[in-house]
Amino acid sequence: MLQIAPSLLSANFAHMDKEIEWLNRSEADYLHFDVMDGSFVPNISFGFPVMASIKNEVQLPFDVHLMVVHPEQWCDTLSKLGARIMTVHQECCPNLHRTVQQIHEAGMLAGVAVNPGTSLSVLEEVICDIDLALVMTVNPGFGAQKFIPSMADKVRRLRQMITDRGAHALIECDGGVNLETGRILKEAGVDILVTGNTVFKAPDPVQMVRDLKSL
Ligand code: DX5
Ligand code: ZN
Repeated sequence: MLQIAPSLLSANFAHMDKEIEWLNRSEADYLHFDVMDGSFVPNISFGFPVMASIKNEVQLPFDVHLMVVHPEQWCDTLSKLGARIMTVHQECCPNLHRTVQQIHEAGMLAGVAVNPGTSLSVLEEVICDIDLALVMTVNPGFGAQKFIPSMADKVRRLRQMITDRGAHALIECDGGVNLETGRILKEAGVDILVTGNTVFKAPDPVQMVRDLKSL
């Protein structure tokens, strides 16, 4: 069964109590937390104070997606905030292998994300060391963008790489995921679907999570 990680970026921040209430009632597996710095991506979202204020309210483990330069400096902070997964962008990490080590040393699962324009070859040397490979299915920075169809083939090739190398990394996809694109990604071999608008704007988010899970 697919795992689902609702992306907090699409929440209605004026009504966080309501959002947290349905998240805790849902069968979601993670809360996906998009941190943006206005430098790596052309947007700024939210950061540690928000995470700290909801961590005791939300029962889901945090899947933190850092769209920031120098992400390695935040390992200890995120670990103290109880993050389960810390995902960094390959494009932000000249010393990617060391960053993966630092994430592990801080006691978290290590994820590496690649943009739509980044070749999968950058994952080859770390694929056996990481816990999660995040294929961006839109260009990072905003919610509610359109899924890039050619990313399905990228997921298929990544699945093959993981099988060939005997790696344990899960494949996560992020951006433009709905029931239609989610099915395409499932066929391509995804494990975890990140989904913002599709769940947060659904009339019944709990049911939408259930529907996505059982694609
Ligand atoms: C985009 C973020 C995504 C975003 C997904 O840069 O990484 O997690 O919130 O939102 P949707 O599902 O609406 O495309
Ligand atoms: Zn994300």
